[in-house]
Amino acid sequence: MHKCTFHLILLLSFVACTLSSSPIPILKRRKAEVNKEADAAAIAEAERLQAEMQAEAEKNKFIIGDAIAALFCNNLFLTVFFAYVVYVVFDKLQNSLKSKKVDIILIGMGLPKKGMGWYHLLQLLNEEGLKEYVDVKGVVEPFFLNSDLCKSVPASFTDFVDENSQIHFVKNVEELDDFGPNTLCLIAGRTMDNPKFFKQCIEKGAGYIYLEKPGASTVKELEEMKELADSNNVKVYLGYNKNVTPYVQKALKLANQLDTAHVLFRHNNSYKKRDLPECFARNSEGMLKNMAIHELALLASFFNITVDSVASFKIDKKISEKLELSYQGKSYTDFSKILFTVTNKKKQSVSIMADRCGGNVSYAAVLNREGKEVGKFEFPDEDELAKVNKMVEADPEMMPYFFVQSDDYFELKSRVVKSILSGEVAEGVATIEIAVDALKLAEFGTDQLMKTL
Ligand SMILES: NC(=O)c1ccc[n+]([C@@H]2O[C@H](COP(=O)([O-])OP(=O)(O)OC[C@H]3O[C@@H](n4cnc5c(N)ncnc54)[C@H](O)[C@@H]3O)[C@@H](O)[C@H]2O)c1
Repeated sequence: MHKCTFHLILLLSFVACTLSSSPIPILKRRKAEVNKEADAAAIAEAERLQAEMQAEAEKNKFIIGDAIAALFCNNLFLTVFFAYVVYVVFDKLQNSLKSKKVDIILIGMGLPKKGMGWYHLLQLLNEEGLKEYVDVKGVVEPFFLNSDLCKSVPASFTDFVDENSQIHFVKNVEELDDFGPNTLCLIAGRTMDNPKFFKQCIEKGAGYIYLEKPGASTVKELEEMKELADSNNVKVYLGYNKNVTPYVQKALKLANQLDTAHVLFRHNNSYKKRDLPECFARNSEGMLKNMAIHELALLASFFNITVDSVASFKIDKKISEKLELSYQGKSYTDFSKILFTVTNKKKQSVSIMADRCGGNVSYAAVLNREGKEVGKFEFPDEDELAKVNKMVEADPEMMPYFFVQSDDYFELKSRVVKSILSGEVAEGVATIEIAVDALKLAEFGTDQLMKTL
């Protein structure tokens, strides 16, 4: 409801109540009228009425709750007034939440339509429900803004910088002023560079970090980052969007309802075979640390499966494929697809399949004790996929997963930003502890797959 309309209704209600519902003003008015006309009989009548009401009230011994209820039921004015007070307090609280903002420093924007950092920035600048809670204080782009490293800057990058002249773009974290405590650094550089950015952000005084998965190339680095964050009291969240995505939540709910359930997570990307060399080079941390890491984070978050609890790790050799590919004169060995089942000491088991060329649809299938599929949750579903396909067709330059996972990226950032404003923990968002467990599983799994295939 529009504020003015609300206030007008309140005012009218107030007038109406004053005139009609409360007996006291009516009595007073009546008394004044009869005084004017010097009608002694009417005065006596009015006084008798008042005395009767007082006597009635004396008779009724209300307990406090009844008295308050009676007061509100019989007195519309008080009810409206109370509603007004509640409205004003709520409005003030909302406004104070809106007026407080989280300062954002984004590190690793990358190229428009390609870089994860760019997509985060786009949402922070434009999405209702997010943009009003943040203030983008700076964007660090260490590659495209560094002429020593990038000899020919793509036009899409320079155009974006020109169109967003209100943003303070720099090539290095050190060029920025020290950060205030309400600063959230969103780090989306290349995985191998992110530990360095993480350290620089903490040195500059960041209070919060949203780190793109997997956070670091090795467990050792990520553990050191965790220690650094802990000792500086910095809260760290990871961009594991499958931890909050609805299709996973639905599968987890169904699995929890069964005595024994086995979940198969299938994670697909839509690369063409010919794009795999570039994909292997760009994600050189490998398929498990870059792609299946989302599912490994689910194992750590929801299934109590960590490296210490693994009892068996079975690889499907018929499905899995290891390739050695060259890109720009360098050779990369990685997997184009994998399928494995991991079981912990409590006999809980989960299967993970990842396929770089499997298309745009991923899913979680829930199997019962007999191995029968009892539920399959696809993402995107048929309707969403039709929309995504249209968007991909209309904008083939855009990384397709931005269309597919846009809501999840929004949800994660929004939970983190609102948690900073409210001083509470961001519910369901993976922490750096979960990230360490996921990365340990990725190192363990990569080792097993490399040895077996
Ligand atoms: N949560 C998700 O779904 C999701 C999806 C994609 C990426 N990511 C993560 O986001 C992070 C960034 O991934 P991305 O795909 O945006 O990476 P990207 O390589 O496109 O860009 C990241 C940064 O790499 C640098 N860079 C770009 N080209 C370079 C080159 N030729 N040589 C050296 N440096 C170069 C730039 O500084 C850029 O900001 C990674 O940690 C990745 O795992 C997450």
